[in-house]
Order: sequence, then structure tokens, then C-alpha cells
Amino acid sequence: MPKLSLPNILTLEELSLNQITAILDLANKLKVERKRGITRNSLAGKTLVLLFQKASTRTRVSFEVAMAELGGFSIFLNSSDIQLSRGETIADTARTLSLFSHALAVRVYDHKDIEGLSKYASIPVINALSNDYHPCQALSDIQTIREKKGNFKKLKMAWVGDGDNVCNSLLIASGKVGINMMVASPKKYRPSSFALKVAKDAARSSGAVIEVTDDPLEAVNGADIIITDSFVSMGSEAEAKERLQTFIPKYQVTAKLFSKAKKDAIFMHCLPAKRGQEVEAKVIDGARSVVWEEAENKLHTHKALLQLYLTKSL
Ligand code: CP
Ligand code: NVA
Repeated sequence: MPKLSLPNILTLEELSLNQITAILDLANKLKVERKRGITRNSLAGKTLVLLFQKASTRTRVSFEVAMAELGGFSIFLNSSDIQLSRGETIADTARTLSLFSHALAVRVYDHKDIEGLSKYASIPVINALSNDYHPCQALSDIQTIREKKGNFKKLKMAWVGDGDNVCNSLLIASGKVGINMMVASPKKYRPSSFALKVAKDAARSSGAVIEVTDDPLEAVNGADIIITDSFVSMGSEAEAKERLQTFIPKYQVTAKLFSKAKKDAIFMHCLPAKRGQEVEAKVIDGARSVVWEEAENKLHTHKALLQLYLTKSL
């Protein structure tokens, strides 16, 4: 079995194209096995700690089910449950959790908190969303794209809306695997310069074209994939009014905007979605929406990640 040396995953920058491909291939294999009723017990005796500062439906449940289906165990902690909330340091929290468990999946507000945990933990740390990055989401999104479109080459993906955490990690993923990605967002809500730099650097090898515009029409023109996310992410609630005024109506994925993409274009959204804000109901609930496959794929990519990280083999 191939042995892989795997880094912590904070942004997705850390993973090579080969490692990303190994995760996607294993996710696909596990998906097929699950549909056939084949079970594995490969993570018996292994424990995943999920340490979450923010709400989660899909990421939390898919990680917990992933551990259960692979024969392992998971412990879910709200940050308010543990001594971190009473002033214990990130460093001591990381050292302590490393004594009892085999991997940490962490959802935080401040990305620096996950950098701190990653620095002091002696077990793998996986970002389950920070204000700035959502690498696990990007992995399941590109798995979904590969399933729906066959491969990554010559695809155009249009991101319309907030250049947020999901967008940042998806840019990095696209640069690495070779998806052409154009982000249409207002100037104030563009993706991070770090994500754009990593994506463009990776694109030199993959051939991807990574672009940013403020014009949604330019982005969706000829696109194979239209993707968006909430206009008000967790932690941005205080800016809700200003954000909605900036994004609506120009950056809404309406049926009219969607019709400017290719005839076989798919619609994606990491969920949770606000129908009537970032997307019109008839798009997200329409025939070309793949949001439920996208959500399901979180289970398969998380299983693959955990299998690889906790057994260091495919
Ligand atoms: N897409 C996603 O991360 O969803 P949750 O916030 O429900 O985990
Ligand atoms: N950008 C969203 C993603 C939710 C999965 C948020 O951070 O709230």
C-alpha cells in the first residue's frame, strides 16, 4: 500500500496535486463500496476530535458518520464545552487533545486559531472551516465536478458573489487541478490575495486560468459550472445590511443569469443557502442543480481524508 506523508490542511495550499488526486480517487472508491453495502473497519481504535466554534450541519455530521462507518470514534466539542472558553491557551488545548485522539477537525472564526492549533498539536489538524478558508468543502466540490464533468480540463467555473472562505479554497483547488475559474465579486468582497497567488502559481503547472472580475455576466458567459455561497457568512452578521445592499440584485444567481452559461452548466452551492438572496429558488431547486450530490460527497471525501490521515495508506 502506498505510504503518504500528509501535511495539516489549513487552506488546501498544503496538498500536492498527487495528494488531492489520491483523496478524490479514494473518495470515489469508498462511495462505490458504500452503495454496494461493503463496510470497512479500518479506523478501529482511532478517535477524531471535532472542535467547533460555529454551527455546522453537513461538515459535523459527515465527519462523525465518516468515523463511524470506518469503525472509528468521534467526539464533538463546542469550544464553550472545554477549558479554552475559560482561558486555557490554544497551545495547551492542542497538546492535550493530541494525547487522547488521533486527528482534529476544527471550525473556527479566526484563521489564526487553527494555525495555533496546528503549530502545537502532534496529530493531524484539518480545517473544517475558518473565516478565511474551507478546504474540505473545496475537496468535495471538485469531486462533484469530476463526477459530473468527467475531468477538469477546459472547464470554466464562475464563482458569483462573495469571495469568501469557500471561494478561497476553491481557487486553490482549481489552480492545482486545472479548472479555469473566474470570480465575479464586488471589489470589497474579493477573494484573499494569498488564495489568488497560490492559485495562480499552481496554475502555471496545471494550465488553469484564474481571473477576477466585478461583472457576473462576464464570469457566467460560457461557464460549465456556476457556484455561489451565502452573502452573509457566519461571523459577518453585523455587516448583513451593507452586504445585502452590495450584492443584491447584481450578484444573485437568477435563472436569467444562469441561462447565459453553457446549456449543460451545473449549479453548485456548499449550503446552507438563502433562496431569494444569493440564488433564485428555481435555480437551486432546478434540474441542473447538483447541490445534494455536492453535500453527499462531503461524506465520501471526509472518509477518504480520515482513512489516509489515520492509517497513512490508501
Ligand atoms: N457546507 C458546509 O460546510 O455546511 P455546514 O456549515 O452545515 O457544515
Ligand atoms: N461562507 C459560509 C460557508 C458555510 C458552509 C460561512 O462561512 O458561513
